[in-house]
Amino acid sequence: MSSPKLSLVSGHSSADSSAEPHCIHMDGFSAYYGDNCIVSDVNLRLPPKGVTCLIGPSGAGKSTILRWLNRINEESERASFSGKIEVLGRDVLKGYPDVTELRRKVGMVFQQPCVFPCSIYDNMLMGLRSRKLSKGEARSIIEQSLKAASLWDEVSHRLAQPASALSLGQQQRLCLARALVLEPEVLLLDEPTASIDPVSSRAIEAFVIEQGREIPIIMVTHNIGQAKRISDHVIFLCDGQIVEQGTRAHMFSMRSAEKTRTYITEEFCDC
Ligand SMILES: Nc1ncnc2c1ncn2[C@@H]1O[C@H](COP(=O)(O)OP(=O)(O)OP(=O)(O)O)[C@@H](O)[C@H]1O
Ligand SMILES: [Mg+2]
Repeated sequence: MSSPKLSLVSGHSSADSSAEPHCIHMDGFSAYYGDNCIVSDVNLRLPPKGVTCLIGPSGAGKSTILRWLNRINEESERASFSGKIEVLGRDVLKGYPDVTELRRKVGMVFQQPCVFPCSIYDNMLMGLRSRKLSKGEARSIIEQSLKAASLWDEVSHRLAQPASALSLGQQQRLCLARALVLEPEVLLLDEPTASIDPVSSRAIEAFVIEQGREIPIIMVTHNIGQAKRISDHVIFLCDGQIVEQGTRAHMFSMRSAEKTRTYITEEFCDC
C-alpha cells in the first residue's frame, strides 16, 4: 500500500511547512446546524493520493465534514460553516460557482446504495452523459469501471436488467463503479460497507486500496479492522473535534494518544 507523505495538522495550528500540494485543505473549519456547533476548529491537509479513514463514535461529525466537502450540506437551510475549505486548490464556495463541477471532481458514495430506477447499464451511462463519447468508448469505460468494482463478472450478462434487482452489496459496488466513470479527482465514501455482505465489503476494500494509489479517498468507517487494512492515514474525530490524526503506522501503534488507543481497542470514547 502506498504511504504518501502526510501533512495532517490537528488542533489550532494552521502552519503548513510542506511544499506538497494538498487536494483538501481545511483551516479552522467549524460546522453548525442552526446555533449548534457540531464540528469545531478542524485543520487538515490531505495529500494528492492515499486512503484516509475517518473514524469516531456516532454523532462525532464525520458525515458533516464529508457533506461540506462537496457541498451537499448547503442544501440544508440550517447548515452553515465557518473557516476555510479548499478542494483541489480552490475555495469550495467561490472556486466552484457551478456546484456540478465540484461534484464531478469530488465523487461521493453513501452508506445506503442509491441506484437510479433504470437498468444497470443506464445507471453507468448517466455518469458519462456530459462526455462526448462513441457508444463503443462508453461501453469500454463502463466495462472497466465495473471490473474495478469487482462487479463485471456478476452483471456482464444482464446489463439491461433493472439495477434495483441487484443485491444490496452489488448495488453498492454499482454506485462505486458509477462514481468512477466520472473520473473523480477525490472520492468521499461514507460508511460504504456498513450495510452490506462481507464478500462485497472485501471487494470494496480492494477497490479503495487500488483507487487510493491514484487519487485521494476519505472513507468513514466504524470498522476498526477495516481502517487498519485499508488506510494510509487515520483521523480520529470525537465530539466534533479531531483528537488525533496521523499515519496508519502511528495511529495503530502504542505511540498514539491514549484516547485513540482506547477507541481503537474498545471502540469506546469518553470525550
Ligand atoms: N440536518 C441536521 N440538522 C440538525 N442536526 C444534524 C443534522 N445532521 C446531523 N446533525 C447532528 O450533527 C451531529 C453530527 O452528525 P453526523 O451525521 O455528522 O455524525 P457522524 O459522525 O457521521 O455519526 P454516525 O457515525 O452515526 O454516522 C449529530 O449530533 C447529528 O444529530
Ligand atoms: Mg455519519
